Amino acid sequence: MWYTIQRIPTYLTMKLFLDTANIAYVEEIASWGVLDGVTTNPSLVAKEGADFEKTVKAMGDLVPCVSAQVTATDSQEMIKQGEQYASWHKNVYVKVPMTVEGLKALTYFREKGIRTNTTLIFSANQAILAAKAGANIISPFIGRLDDAGQDGMGLIAEIMQIWNNYNFDTEVLVASTRHPRHIVEAAELGAHISTIPYALFKKLPNHPLTDSGIIKFQEDWESVKQ
Ligand code: E4P
Repeated sequence: MWYTIQRIPTYLTMKLFLDTANIAYVEEIASWGVLDGVTTNPSLVAKEGADFEKTVKAMGDLVPCVSAQVTATDSQEMIKQGEQYASWHKNVYVKVPMTVEGLKALTYFREKGIRTNTTLIFSANQAILAAKAGANIISPFIGRLDDAGQDGMGLIAEIMQIWNNYNFDTEVLVASTRHPRHIVEAAELGAHISTIPYALFKKLPNHPLTDSGIIKFQEDWESVKQ
């Protein structure tokens, strides 16, 4: 599906994040030289079963941006958790859910200079509120919207149109990506970041014509050598 954006801003590059709490996966993709950050969430952390603090510290040594999500629902408790996470590593971004309590915590973190990522964004109004509260990053979940019968990439188009109209310095991170075209379409819309699950990231370098092309080049080279 195509979406028309009237004025597309130019960024230095689109950032690619890995959506995981698995340190080995981060080491592997970081070794490709293309990884700009990592997003974790409580479900991903629970899946790995590893110590959260150790995981965040190890990932902070590998990439310049690691999102660590608060689990509290009250702003004061979010603030306590977020300050603790931020003390673990200079590359931590405190991930705060999009609620009224989350907005209060975002405002506090902005004043304290603690960087944030607002998660569970499902509407443009939520995106505007999080940006105005000072979020460094907002994370609209496109796959979950698609799963609910709505248009996830349409939300990204809407948000990027709004971002083109104003001077929000909040980066738009396309989350809950499910397939390779999501990454392309997010880039076409000028989204700043895509976070990508490991299995999907591993698909991105591949194309069958690349594979068959390499085999043909090798066969031709070997035939000349003989
Ligand atoms: C990233 O920050 C999100 O937590 C993640 O992309 C959610 O993906 P899911 O909808 O596949 O769980």
